[in-house]
Amino acid sequence: MALLEMSGIFKSFGPVEVLRGVDLALEAGEVLALVGDNGAGKSTAIKHVAGVYRADAGEIRLEGKKVEFDSPRHARTLGIETVYQDLALADALSVGANIFLGREPTRKFLGIPVVDNAKIRSETEALLKRLSSRIPPKAATVAGLSGGQRQAVAIARALYWKAKVVVLDEPTAALAVMEREHVIELSRRLAAEGVGVIYIGHNLIEILEVADRVAVMYRGQVVHVVKAEETNQQELIKYMTGFTEAEAKAA
Ligand SMILES: Nc1ncnc2c1ncn2[C@@H]1O[C@H](COP(=O)(O)OP(=O)(O)OP(=O)(O)O)[C@@H](O)[C@H]1O
Ligand SMILES: [Mg+2]
Repeated sequence: MALLEMSGIFKSFGPVEVLRGVDLALEAGEVLALVGDNGAGKSTAIKHVAGVYRADAGEIRLEGKKVEFDSPRHARTLGIETVYQDLALADALSVGANIFLGREPTRKFLGIPVVDNAKIRSETEALLKRLSSRIPPKAATVAGLSGGQRQAVAIARALYWKAKVVVLDEPTAALAVMEREHVIELSRRLAAEGVGVIYIGHNLIEILEVADRVAVMYRGQVVHVVKAEETNQQELIKYMTGFTEAEAKAA
């Protein structure tokens, strides 16, 4: 049984049919890359599992059970964390405050529950250590962190709260090379901890490095799914530009 399964997802915006029957299955403990040309429908597809959109038709199953997400918060409650390039963090808050945002631990002070900042600090330090992260846990706010460090904080949050599924939509698009490597490492780390990771990206070298399997979208459908070790850039580009399975067999 797949951890997360989308089947026959259709979505139109007005007259424009953006998803035309998306089928995709994610296993626990794998990084599944989702690739495709600009406008193929990748972000629209994953916004259905993030609770942002509701499908016109089709269904989503989480651990075999049919789910309908009312909101992003609902999806998160059920264990699906989505990390976007820019929207991931609250700039004015510290690293720890971001990891615990909306779920702060409390302690009693004179009988009154107050936010347990000491616990937030110690848990954050332990978590960043576990991730071998170079982020200063005491950073005053996350506003001063680099793009890669921000991604790392968002991934740390998913790990801490035991997300079942983590969706990364172009996590490295704006990153320098070293930072990109760190995000790739963290994605592998999540998978090693049993999380199912959906990794959207455009850089095929990076995709083949990070992914266990690669799914290719073309014009609103998943047209090809293959193990990363059994494919290459040339083959992926063919499918991304509309080459069909039938043509592959004939060739
Ligand atoms: N809210 C919307 N209203 C109308 N059209 C939309 C909306 N969101 C997406 N689209 C259209 O749906 C198509 C797919 O967009 P989507 O963002 O899912 O593509 P993508 O595969 O993520 O592309 P990219 O690689 O550029 O991020 C595009 O043609 C886009 O213009
Ligand atoms: Mg997109």
